[in-house]
Amino acid sequence: MAEAGWDVDLVRSKFPALARQQDGQPVAFFDGPAGSQVPQSVADAVSHYLLNTNANRGAAHATARESDALLENAHQVVADFLGTPDPATVCFGGNMTTMTLAASRAIAQQWRAGDEIIVSQLDHDSNVTPWVLAARDAGVNVHHISLKPDDWSLDIDDFRSKLSSKTKLVAVGYASNATGTINPVGEIIAAAKAVGALTYIDAVHYAPHRRINVKELQCDFLACSAYKFFGPHVGILYGRRELLETIRPYKLRPSTDALPGKWMTGTQNHEGIVGVAAAIEYLTSLDASADEDHNTCADSTASERVAKLDRVFSRIRDYETALSLRFLAGVSSVSGLRIYGITNVDEVDDRVPTFSMTSDRHTPQQLAKRLAEQGVFAWAGNHYALPFTEAAGLEPSGTLRIGALHYNSMQEIDRVVDCLRALL
Ligand SMILES: Cc1ncc(COP(=O)(O)O)c(C=O)c1O
Repeated sequence: MAEAGWDVDLVRSKFPALARQQDGQPVAFFDGPAGSQVPQSVADAVSHYLLNTNANRGAAHATARESDALLENAHQVVADFLGTPDPATVCFGGNMTTMTLAASRAIAQQWRAGDEIIVSQLDHDSNVTPWVLAARDAGVNVHHISLKPDDWSLDIDDFRSKLSSKTKLVAVGYASNATGTINPVGEIIAAAKAVGALTYIDAVHYAPHRRINVKELQCDFLACSAYKFFGPHVGILYGRRELLETIRPYKLRPSTDALPGKWMTGTQNHEGIVGVAAAIEYLTSLDASADEDHNTCADSTASERVAKLDRVFSRIRDYETALSLRFLAGVSSVSGLRIYGITNVDEVDDRVPTFSMTSDRHTPQQLAKRLAEQGVFAWAGNHYALPFTEAAGLEPSGTLRIGALHYNSMQEIDRVVDCLRALL
């Protein structure tokens, strides 16, 4: 059925997992913030790589050369996804956390005792603790951007009051994986630049929902993770070329000093990286699916891909906004449920459809268990957004998190709202 110009049935048909049933009922996947489902085309690309072209890189034989070509293509495809014209500034690794821990060690070599850095209380701990640990080792002071208690969004006045010429780095998330709030990263980056601080943006939660453009943002670093945007478990780090070239990461002697290999330690997850490119090609293919029901875009050129992704993400944004409005309208009449994050419908464009909530009758764990029994998959806990759950006084139980993606239907939203109403 087409809702808000989006043929969700067609989209869903590309994801085999979405046909899963439990006790004769379809499963509703609202666990996307912890990892999205994967289209058939991604699984096919991974399996094709392993079965046909599996090899290490840089040798003369055919499979090695095919591997080189596939992996180079993946850097280009991800560069288009992130909005940089320079594929050598896209690095792959195990996951966002591992890449950020490694990057923090490298970047912190430039810090001196008495310097300062700024992290936020709305971030996943992956963009907080790596910097806090590096700061501890370097004798650097850490400031935490506090939250506004009305909707738990970042207090930008507090950020500005903590920013100074001593600030060496601002690490902030693009969108919260707990509350769904989109942070004003453009404003934060501009302010940080004005005092000469570097910026490290965690776009893990933002990436499946909205278009990223590192060139427009002018961030120094941006990290994301493909398993959140319909791909395999692979981490991605973009860095500004000049910084990637001048900063010295910890790496082995025989490994290259050229970009991007300098920042990619050890043998990479080739099949996973091929799958990352396939996930982006899947997203690109949705540009065609408004009028055609097949994937026409597997061989898009870079500029076509960029234009298609622009259009696709604009439509995903509209559809997901409609999902958010439906959810917020539905839960507004469920008694005893408290939502953490933006609930004002006039501000709905400043959030993605990820909702954290608590109830006055049941713990988040009890709610998630009851939902799971009914085939509705959601998460309970702190979601590793520990600075937020601590600041909001929600430890140790955290919140119930219901996270929608572009493959969730309006009927699924109604179903989860009905389940919550019945439970409460
Ligand atoms: C916002 C956010 N940042 C960082 C991470 C960590 O990513 P990874 O699992 O790739 O280490 C997650 C994972 O849930 C996340 O949601």
